[in-house]
Amino acid sequence: MKEDLISFGHWQKDKLEQLLQLALKVKRSPQDYRQALSGKSVVALFEKPSLRTRVSFDIGIHMLGGHMVYMDSQAGKLAGREDAYDMGANLACWADAIVARVFKHETLELFAQAANVPVINALCERYHPCQALADFLTLFEHFGSADKIRLAYVGDGNNVSHSLMQVGAILGADVRVITPVGHSPEPSVMALAIERAVECGGKIHHSHDLADVEGANVLYTDTWLSMGDKTPLEQIKEDFAPFQLNAALMKRAGASYAMHCQPAHRELEITSELIDGPCSLLLQQAENRMHAQNAILISLLG
Ligand code: CP
Ligand code: NVA
Repeated sequence: MKEDLISFGHWQKDKLEQLLQLALKVKRSPQDYRQALSGKSVVALFEKPSLRTRVSFDIGIHMLGGHMVYMDSQAGKLAGREDAYDMGANLACWADAIVARVFKHETLELFAQAANVPVINALCERYHPCQALADFLTLFEHFGSADKIRLAYVGDGNNVSHSLMQVGAILGADVRVITPVGHSPEPSVMALAIERAVECGGKIHHSHDLADVEGANVLYTDTWLSMGDKTPLEQIKEDFAPFQLNAALMKRAGASYAMHCQPAHRELEITSELIDGPCSLLLQQAENRMHAQNAILISLLG
């Protein structure tokens, strides 16, 4: 039976650990996987802009011997010309997998129902699983195991924070999400992450209190306004300003590393001093997008 990656929410711990180990192997020995997708085609469909996801999938698939077909949203709305369900069913007639970045999570669910090939979430408004896997690959390269990771995500309770909580909970890390009031993660996503953490040995905590960064060894942030959110920056800037990732917050936490999925907005959610400084993991995260995604492709299509 085909398998999708829409979110990691219900993944079994051993399966996620194996995927992470595969990502480490793919990164270390890319020559062993040159033919992994030989003769296979992947459609990558983007309703929203992308730099990292688009290019890392394209080059990654090439490195595995496969072929990627890029599709943008054409008239600005993916399902404008035909139903998303019909589109998914048609794409599956030719493609061996569908990678999709969409505005609405439900579009991915429709694709997954319609297509008899794997559907991979390249970001929706609720989740960004490929990012979270790459981020934990990055963290494993530094810490070696999940029980050593104490990650504090500071900023908007968004798709990236949701996926970090899911992956962290299952792998057994300590993930704290600290947001301004009114910008909390979705309660249902929080509840599932907490449940998974209890089951798998992780720790998930949400608050509005910046004191909760104390003791974290990694601080992570993301944009204050995600793609598709039309709220004017001026309206939320004041609420988010205290949550900026900067040298003072790093010191308060006692953290060694700063992370951001990018695109980053310098001097808003993170300072240039951190992006360009010795604690920055940003480019390692970006590089690891490709290795993590290649592991996902190999495991779902292999
Ligand atoms: N982090 C990330 O997904 O970047 P892009 O939006 O550029 O793909
Ligand atoms: N939260 C951001 C992530 C971008 C990679 C967004 O959805 O726009």
